[in-house]
Amino acid sequence: MKVMDEKLSVVGCGYLGVTHAACMSSLGYRVVGVDTDPVKIAELQSGKLPFYEPGLDTLLAQEMKSGRLSFTTDVLAVTDADVHFICVGTPQSKDGLAADLTYVKSALAAISPFLKKGSLVVGKSTVPVGTAQSLREELAKTAPHADLAWNPEFLREGFAVEDTLTPNRLVVGVANDLAEDILKKVYKPILDLGTPWIRADLPTSELVKVAANSFLATKISFINAMAEVCEAAGGDVTVLAKAIGYDPRIGNKFLQAGIGFGGGCLPKDIRAFMARAEELGAKQALEFLREIDAINLRARLRVIDVVRSELSDDLSQYKIAVLGATFKPDSDDVRDSPALDIAAQLNAAGAQVVVTDPQGIEPARKRFPNLEYALNVNDALKDANLVLHLTEWKEYRQIDPAAISSLVKNKIIIDGRNMLDRDLWRKAGWKFRALGRTD
Ligand code: UGA
Repeated sequence: MKVMDEKLSVVGCGYLGVTHAACMSSLGYRVVGVDTDPVKIAELQSGKLPFYEPGLDTLLAQEMKSGRLSFTTDVLAVTDADVHFICVGTPQSKDGLAADLTYVKSALAAISPFLKKGSLVVGKSTVPVGTAQSLREELAKTAPHADLAWNPEFLREGFAVEDTLTPNRLVVGVANDLAEDILKKVYKPILDLGTPWIRADLPTSELVKVAANSFLATKISFINAMAEVCEAAGGDVTVLAKAIGYDPRIGNKFLQAGIGFGGGCLPKDIRAFMARAEELGAKQALEFLREIDAINLRARLRVIDVVRSELSDDLSQYKIAVLGATFKPDSDDVRDSPALDIAAQLNAAGAQVVVTDPQGIEPARKRFPNLEYALNVNDALKDANLVLHLTEWKEYRQIDPAAISSLVKNKIIIDGRNMLDRDLWRKAGWKFRALGRTD
């Protein structure tokens, strides 16, 4: 493979940073990943991925072997690089809805003294609109020979490598042609695949990201609102979703009704967007996102209502098996996971809750040490009075209900993701309940 002339640095080696670093290395760039966490860096240096993401472990090992990719805690290592990607987290603030920009600001401050003439800092973190402009002004004071652009990231967990190497679009926020030219050159191998390229100003590029996530959240809460209406009216939301999804203006993606969205992005992004709009005097424009958030959190309570209606208001005598802890399948991420939240609420209500998950048990245990965990489905199901399907891992969708019937005390399943084959479960003698389906 041709080794590219430009050297890249990636600041922040979390989910986004490691994926970006490994993928850019696979395109032929020499890439250094920098992070302040020595434990994480030591793992990465040994070619080990500190989290679960299908395909990324192999790519990381391969790129480390190629010699193009390296990781360090020493920020001095960015000195050689021409383009610096900022990939640090922007979590929800501890004291409100807004995003915490501490890591973005400190990342820029840390690399500023080492930026060489003509180099470009490229923010990839999700930030409130206006951040890029103020960081660029800051950079003009500390390193006037460098420039700053924004390049939002749209990758989905579980598909991180695919979404990075073959994204459905590349969006860059730039203040001049030179910055755009540098980014076009860096992304040439991806652009050559025919990937749409969108040049925007800095604020628009920041807005594209939060607008996209808000739209996705709105779609999910829309279908969950329809699920509530279906329950009240005696309808079936899965049929409704299928029927409206055939209209290409609506589309059938992100219309899966259930316990709603979680993870490190959608929930905090819509909240930060509302907080920023209020600061900008545009509060009313995003007032609807408050309802999107409320519908989403209500879905978690609705599933608990179904549990109570099947067992009793007093859950203290019951054992509930929970299939799934992560916020979605093919990930070990339990941040704001609807599944774990429901498990914890049931546990707090007095039920004995046993959670299993193919990848998320350890991260879940760190967050909720008081819950019980089982390493496999059979152990989780043992003597359960009710089974909750909360994260649609492939292995759960493939469970043969007849084969597990003898393990449980009561054959009652609630499908919180509307992904199981209702007829199959009923044929095996199970009582099958789901959100948004009255039958
Ligand atoms: C999301 C966006 O989809 C990415 O484009 C974006 O880059 C990323 O956030 C980010 O900001 O970094 P991700 O958090 O990986 O990606 O998860 P999604 O696939 O969007 O799923 C989010 C949640 O919605 C999950 O809990 C999922 O179970 C739920 N969901 C999804 C539904 O409840 N119904 C659906 O129909 C689809």
